[in-house]
Amino acid sequence: MEVKNLTIIGAGLMGTGIAHVSALGGIRTTLVDVSSEILEKALAKIEGHLQKGMELEKIDREMMEQSLGRLKSEVDLERGVREADMVIEAVPEKIELKLEIFRKADQLCGKDVVFASNTSALSITEMAAVTQRPEKCIGIHFFNPVHLMRLVEIVRGLETSDDTYQITKEVAEGMGKETVEVKESPGFVTSRINVLIGNEAFYLLQEGVARAEDIDKALKLGLNHPMGPFELVDLVGLDTRLSVLEFLHERLGEKYRPCPLLVKYVKAGRLGRKTDKGVYDYTRKR
Ligand code: NAI
Repeated sequence: MEVKNLTIIGAGLMGTGIAHVSALGGIRTTLVDVSSEILEKALAKIEGHLQKGMELEKIDREMMEQSLGRLKSEVDLERGVREADMVIEAVPEKIELKLEIFRKADQLCGKDVVFASNTSALSITEMAAVTQRPEKCIGIHFFNPVHLMRLVEIVRGLETSDDTYQITKEVAEGMGKETVEVKESPGFVTSRINVLIGNEAFYLLQEGVARAEDIDKALKLGLNHPMGPFELVDLVGLDTRLSVLEFLHERLGEKYRPCPLLVKYVKAGRLGRKTDKGVYDYTRKR
């Protein structure tokens, strides 16, 4: 089956990015969210990013206009999924919310429609279990910012079929992404490794082994990481990082116990760039 019409539920940070690469990749794309203000903002953001792509000569005007022509938005879920061959949910990382979306979409969509979740860590199998199509449910984990990051982790739930995997891989490749295949497991591959590196960096800082700037510099210049672990966590949000660590600690054990210094920063409200202060202080840089 070829996916010609894709519906994305949730037009936040990730849903907006997925809609951008989907429309650019030639798929007719419908964005669904709870309010028309959110959807207007999302479409304006995509247009802005496409415009920037044109200025940088990555795409031409025709590509930009065609992409925008393939995009529409909808506040009503039923109308939003009416023509979909595939649905990707990108609503907040709360299992009850994801289950509700899967349950509702299952009632509204034809039996061949593939359901994908952009969850960073939650169980695809659990979402699949509330539908009548567990073999058509899968994880499609994009990275932020979606239009720039090359990878998609494709996550197979317990009953995901080979056909569903293949369709999803082709969709991701059509959006210009490289894919890796992952069996469902907390944190998949990327989050599981990344949070360990980030947590160890906090231990180094806590023990006074090196300054934050030097730890970042060491990983960038010595290990060729594009960003230092503290630059990255300030971007992601220390609170978000802490919740992923807590979740993995609960599921995978002791090695994911959050470093006390990270916990202390979160308690102090030092959440990263979004609060102007995380590991680094951004108030001085404004
Ligand atoms: P966000 O908070 O920016 O966006 C979520 C959107 O969903 C909001 O616009 C909200 O209005 C909408 N929404 C909530 N309930 C809805 C409903 N019932 N129907 C339709 N829309 C609804 O969240 P973000 O960051 O885009 O995350 C979405 C998903 O992507 C989460 O599962 C998250 O774990 C995952 N993810 C996030 C990454 C990140 O860097 N932020 C990276 C990779 C995955």
